[in-house]
Amino acid sequence: MTNITNESSSDLSALIGGENVSLVQFLLDLGISLSSESNPDRLLEKIVDESITLTNADGCTLYLSDDSGSLHFTISKNISMKICLGGVTGDPVSMPPVPRDPSFVSAYAAINKKIVNVPDVYKSTEFDFTGPKKYDEENCYCTKSMLVAPLTNYEGEVLGVMQLVNAKDPETNQVIAFDKKFDTLVHSLASFAAVAISNVRMIGEIRRRVAMLREANLDAIYSLAMAAEAKDDDTGDHVRRIQLYSIALAKKAGFTDEKADEIGYSSIMHDVGKISVPDMVLKKPGKLTDGEFDVMKAHTEAGSKILPATSFFVVARDIARHHHERWDGNGYPDGLKRGKIPIEARIVAITDVFDALTHKRAYKKAWTFEEAITEMKRCSGTHFDPRLMEIWEELYTSGELNRIFDSWHDS
Ligand code: C2E
Ligand code: SIN
Ligand code: SIN
Ligand code: SIN
Ligand code: FE
Repeated sequence: MTNITNESSSDLSALIGGENVSLVQFLLDLGISLSSESNPDRLLEKIVDESITLTNADGCTLYLSDDSGSLHFTISKNISMKICLGGVTGDPVSMPPVPRDPSFVSAYAAINKKIVNVPDVYKSTEFDFTGPKKYDEENCYCTKSMLVAPLTNYEGEVLGVMQLVNAKDPETNQVIAFDKKFDTLVHSLASFAAVAISNVRMIGEIRRRVAMLREANLDAIYSLAMAAEAKDDDTGDHVRRIQLYSIALAKKAGFTDEKADEIGYSSIMHDVGKISVPDMVLKKPGKLTDGEFDVMKAHTEAGSKILPATSFFVVARDIARHHHERWDGNGYPDGLKRGKIPIEARIVAITDVFDALTHKRAYKKAWTFEEAITEMKRCSGTHFDPRLMEIWEELYTSGELNRIFDSWHDS
């Protein structure tokens, strides 16, 4: 007869001892293995594979609940039929969901949070097995035993159901009923699985939120940079080019994509301090007097003070303060030399000057790339970090700088 076990009756300690030690070890290893999987599809495959291994079942199917409680066929493997649906490696799944109706065994297990052990599907009168029977007919399969367990997470929420079919005798390979001991073991496995699924979903949600926050931050940063740039008669394209130039230079200099990206978004803010420079100086059509240039120079310190003292802006503050330092120590505001200048600022020193030279300013015409590179090479080792300057020239020679320029060039 069908055996229905209340979840709370699970008692692992009764199993510890004798041959069951290896089973307990199996479950502990499984818990670790499942909790280390961060890819949702691979996690589901692992759950299916491990539960087949644990119970010596012929097949395993996971159904996941939607908000209405309907159970969606998500992943399934069957060994004798060589079927693999869903997950990372399986064929696509298209099956109608099982409604939240306790006459179906999987819905029953989910609704009542109970494990159901059906020794023989064809002799069962408790559940509606017309679905599996029809499936058997169409596929020349014979569903016999079933073990169905709810996937209940630590909050007692049922995420779905695990359905194992056709336990096999390890010696004869004959299809048999699921041993009673599996009620407890599969319950534990299903709990591990549910917790792992919850965690993976939570991680996904956190990642999405971090991405959203980042996006919001970047929007604010572009606005801030543009506010400073607007006074300088620019459209904001200047900072976007500098961002892309800086990412390209950082990557080619050996930084990881992630670090290059940080240098990129931080470079956008290099001149935010210009917001505190009076228009009279900032927009002056001709050459600045020494006094005016001193006012202008203050944009570096002003910038690093405007930016918040939080980790997100650490690199941006360094860049804002030090992007006018020179390799030989004759720059401003601190007269730092060589390696004392933060490398992120040495990168932006190059990308900023290149972009300033190749564009029209209130006080100058646009130079050609060739003129700009020639002039900057002349200043390698005096103004610019010579190693970075070499890499910069390679980016020019390979056409990378032209590509970036063309993608963010207004006029
Ligand atoms: P910016 O226009 O964004 O220029 C950034 C840097 O590019 C300059 O930093 C400088 O190192 C380099 N640069 C720009 N144009 C030229 C150029 O024609 N020749 C050479 N050799 N280098 C160039 P710098 O000098 O510290 O200037 C900082 C900022 O001060 C400039 O930012 C600009 O806003 C302003 N500025 C500098 N000189 C003048 C000027 O003569 N007239 C006006 N109106 N503003 C100036
Ligand atoms: C089940 O509830 O496990 C089977 C439902 C169906 O396939 O009709
Ligand atoms: C300028 O910005 O116009 C001149 C600065 C320099 O020659 O380095
Ligand atoms: C210099 O090193 O003399 C300045 C060169 C430049 O800003 O392009
Ligand atoms: Fe600047």
